[in-house]
Amino acid sequence: MKLLIFIVCTLTLEGLCLKIQYNGDQVFKLVLQTKDQTVLVQRLCRELQLDLWRPTMVENIQTGKEIIVRVPFLFLSSLKEKLHHSFIPYEVIINDVQKFIDNSMVSEYRRSKRLLADFNYAKYHPMDVIYEWMVNVSQTYSDLVTMHYLGSTFEIRPIYYFKIGWPSEKNKKIIWMDCGIHAREWISMAFCQWFVKEILESHKTNPLLQKALYNIDFYIVPVLNIDGYIYSWTTDRLWRKSRSSYNNETCIGVDLNRNFASAWCSIGASHKCSDITYCGTGPESEPEVKAVSNLLRRHKADVLCYLTIHSFGQLILLPYGRTKDPSVNHNEMLTVAQKAANNLKQKHGTQYRFGSTSLVLYENSGSSRDWAADLGVNFSYTFELRDNGTFKFLLPEDQIKPTCEETMAGVLTIVEHVHEKYVNSAANLFSLTVWINMSLSILIALHYSEF
Ligand SMILES: *[C@@H]1O[C@H](CO)[C@@H](O)[C@H](O)[C@H]1NC(C)=O
Ligand SMILES: *[C@@H]1O[C@H](CO)[C@@H](O)[C@H](O)[C@H]1NC(C)=O
Ligand SMILES: *[C@@H]1O[C@H](CO)[C@@H](O)[C@H](O)[C@H]1NC(C)=O
Ligand SMILES: *[C@@H]1O[C@H](CO)[C@@H](O)[C@H](O)[C@H]1NC(C)=O
Ligand SMILES: *[C@@H]1O[C@H](CO)[C@@H](O)[C@H](O)[C@H]1NC(C)=O
Repeated sequence: MKLLIFIVCTLTLEGLCLKIQYNGDQVFKLVLQTKDQTVLVQRLCRELQLDLWRPTMVENIQTGKEIIVRVPFLFLSSLKEKLHHSFIPYEVIINDVQKFIDNSMVSEYRRSKRLLADFNYAKYHPMDVIYEWMVNVSQTYSDLVTMHYLGSTFEIRPIYYFKIGWPSEKNKKIIWMDCGIHAREWISMAFCQWFVKEILESHKTNPLLQKALYNIDFYIVPVLNIDGYIYSWTTDRLWRKSRSSYNNETCIGVDLNRNFASAWCSIGASHKCSDITYCGTGPESEPEVKAVSNLLRRHKADVLCYLTIHSFGQLILLPYGRTKDPSVNHNEMLTVAQKAANNLKQKHGTQYRFGSTSLVLYENSGSSRDWAADLGVNFSYTFELRDNGTFKFLLPEDQIKPTCEETMAGVLTIVEHVHEKYVNSAANLFSLTVWINMSLSILIALHYSEF
């Protein structure tokens, strides 16, 4: 039966026929009531190598917390029996994962009209189209946008970023945003595209952007994990990691968000290469991570804000994941996150939670957000976009627009705060120098008037 579907499946529509199929797999939601139940489910997850969606690590399964897990067709009946036997209630939230994927993705990816003006920001786009879109954007808005080479992926594909802001002689500050560290989180890449469009189309009318683009350059990486993203279109829609392999065909990909040099692989990350949170062979072992780290290190004195866009869970996460200790700027970051969540909610009523990663989500090490905070970036946030568990990584296209609209409101709240703070401190610095200049001139004048 499975084989038949495989053969019948033809490549008429791009993306619709993925090589890895999830026919009959189900997604369960369960909340464990006792310690015994927790231990049992942890054991089952390990033995059957189940695909945990939330939390992502077996160690983080906790009594009383919600668990979301994909169960392969093969194990369904035995697992259900075991859960019944131990009185563990569960809810099937996706009945057939493959049907769900087929319904929720690329219903009709057409390559017809492809002028930039016709680019549809409410759709998911494959990588070759995103590359082309980047070139078109930088050509169409060449006064404001430049496209730069960041580095290469493991499979030797170029990673580019946009620099958006008015050219200037003076030293400009930087607000960084990257999308697509995790391959299957497609709404993340969609948001970066939306964000670029919004800046370019509304900077003349939006008073904040109008000012900010003179003082700040936005550095935007629309897709960082390009190899993984392509793999999620061609082969496995639920792929998360990169595609690096170290002479081991059975074991491919590193979790790029565990590979940054911040308490690398100390907690909430795995040394086992087959795990989805595999941290790599060493800090910055991955070319994608090294490229980001090098650029940020080079500009570290100018980076005001680091934003990394993920899904899902509807969260604004602060440093740290690697420890429960707060970051130096914790209270201010928290106030700004709250304001961002409020403004975000005003758009479509979507509820966000916010706080330190280790408290709101779970402990993890080697994330880009923690690393940026270590570098001295005082505003370093992870956004986990929609949704809150219904579609997860498979957010339907009709939610792209509202998700991007609300996220825009949240992100701009942070941009506004960071920008105002910078302008004020620059103004203070300016008046201080004027004051010193004046005092000096008076002193000098006094000095000469003595003679
Ligand atoms: C980019 O611009 C060229 C020339 O106008 C056009 O042919 C192409 O379809 C555009 N592609 C995208 C993705 O916007
Ligand atoms: C390849 O990965 C598998 C799975 O983790 C592991 O058992 C095996 O030892 C690895 N082989 C090599 C040559 O590293
Ligand atoms: C970061 O925040 C801390 C605490 O608020 C402050 O002392 C420090 O000067 C800030 N660093 C920068 C670069 O603004
Ligand atoms: C998301 O779902 C969780 C679990 O059902 C719930 O506790 C939380 O309040 C929800 N969050 C939002 C923002 O709706
Ligand atoms: C301070 O004085 C020097 C020399 O007189 C001048 O070049 C500089 O622009 C002044 N700086 C400010 C901030 O006024």
